[in-house]
Amino acid sequence: MANERTLSIIKPDAVAKNVIGGIFSMIEAADLKVVATRMIHLTEDQAKAFYAVHRERPFYNDLVSFMTAGPVVVSVLEGQDAIAKYRKVMGATNPAQADNGTIRKAFAENIERNAVHGSDAPETAAMEVAFFFPESEIRSR
Ligand code: CMP
Repeated sequence: MANERTLSIIKPDAVAKNVIGGIFSMIEAADLKVVATRMIHLTEDQAKAFYAVHRERPFYNDLVSFMTAGPVVVSVLEGQDAIAKYRKVMGATNPAQADNGTIRKAFAENIERNAVHGSDAPETAAMEVAFFFPESEIRSR
């Protein structure tokens, strides 16, 4: 297992529900460390660029509207096998299929308003971390 970094976004639905702390608790209980974090309100251009890989999907415009509807918390998580581990902690994209004990089972509303985002592979994790954080703002520990 490699020590990895992954990008987490606590999405507008979860921020609006005031469950940032609950989500951070689940992250920390899984032995992942928050090594950078910031609350921001994504612009339309930022949301479009971040989700550019989905631009041909029918849900793309709705996704951009949702992600710009309110503030989000972007964080870098670090730990052994962090990418796969965080995806396990998040649960399935569709909360109807998420396991008990996962963030999405606890807090997500539907397949779009699904509380959190996490990188899906080492290459995307590197790109997504760099999208929001310069190396100087990440505190490995
Ligand atoms: P995320 O893990 O951030 O990656 C892409 C996002 O698009 C996903 O979470 C959901 O918020 C959204 N999404 C994925 N599939 C669908 C879908 N079938 N309908 C609506 N939104 C979706």
